[in-house]
Amino acid sequence: MTLQTKNKHIFVFGIFAVDISFYVDKKVKPGETIIAKGSNVGPGGKASNQAISAKKLGGNTTLITRLGNDNFYSYANTIWGKEKLSTSVKIDRTLPTGMAGIFIDDKTGENSVIVHPGASAQLSINDFNSQKSKMQRGDIFLTQFEQSSDTTFSVLKEARKLGMITIFNPAPFGKINKKVYQSCEIITPNETEAEQITDIPLKGKRDVQKAINKIRDLGVEKVIITLGKKGAAVFDGDEITFCPGKNFGKVIDTTGAGDCFNGALASALSFGKDLKQSVEFSCAAAGLSVLKRGTAQSSPTKIELNKALKTI
Ligand code: RIB
Repeated sequence: MTLQTKNKHIFVFGIFAVDISFYVDKKVKPGETIIAKGSNVGPGGKASNQAISAKKLGGNTTLITRLGNDNFYSYANTIWGKEKLSTSVKIDRTLPTGMAGIFIDDKTGENSVIVHPGASAQLSINDFNSQKSKMQRGDIFLTQFEQSSDTTFSVLKEARKLGMITIFNPAPFGKINKKVYQSCEIITPNETEAEQITDIPLKGKRDVQKAINKIRDLGVEKVIITLGKKGAAVFDGDEITFCPGKNFGKVIDTTGAGDCFNGALASALSFGKDLKQSVEFSCAAAGLSVLKRGTAQSSPTKIELNKALKTI
C-alpha cells in the first residue's frame, strides 16, 4: 500500500478527558500535601488531543469517542466546535466523562499522568461501525491504547481490512495481542513503550535500531520511535533514519507532545507527504507544543508552525 495519497480523511478513535494539571517543584509523597506553583484545566485524552492537533494542522479529521452525561459534555463540544472538528460521540448514561490528573515539573516541564477513561472505557467496534460508511481505502485511521484492548485490536483490524493507513500509538503501554501487529501499517511508540514492547533498553542509536528491527519482525510495516527532545527514529519500509528534534525555546510543559506528534503525522500523511517528510513535520509540531501549557491547547496551527520554522 502506498502512502502517497492526497487529502485523505483522518479518523481518530479513542478517549476524551478533562485534564487538571498542577505545576510543581517536587513529587508528592504519600500523606503529604504540597502547594503547586500553578494549575491549568483543559481538554485532554490522547485521541481528542491527536484529533485536535491533526485538525489545527489542516487535516480533515473526525474524532470517534464517548462522553458521560455530565457538565463536561458541553465543555468538550465547545472545544471541538471552536476547532471545527467533526465528531462522532456516543453518550454513556452510567459513566462520567474521562478525567486526568497531571503533575508537571516546573523546572523541566516533564510530566506524570493518571487518566480515568470514564465513558470512553466502553468504546466498542459499534462506535467504529457508525462511521464505517464514510471510511475509504487510503484514509488514515489513528488510535491509541486508552480504551479497552479488545476494542483497540478489533478497530485496527477492521480499519486495515478497509484498506486504511492504520497508525497505532501504543500509549499507555498495555499487553498487545501479537496478531494485532499485522493490522498496524505504522506503529508509534515512545522510548519507554518501545522498551516495553521489545525488552530492549534504549541507551543509544544502536539499541533504537535493534528495537525497530524487533518490532518489524512482529509484522508491523513501518515503525516510528519518538525520542522526546532527540526527535524520532523512522523505518519507512526501506531504511532506518533519525530525524533530529526541533528546539524552538524554553520547554514549559511536555504533556501531550506525543499526541501533537501523532496528530501532525496523520495530517501530513493525509496531504500526501511521505513518511520521512511527515516525521520531520511532526517533530517540528511537537517541538513547538512544549513551549506552552496544556495538551490540545498547546498544539500549533499550520500558520504558527510555518512561522516558527522560519525562525530556526
Ligand atoms: O498524552 C497526554 C494525555 O494523556 C492527557 O491529555 C491525558 O488526558 C491523558 O489522556
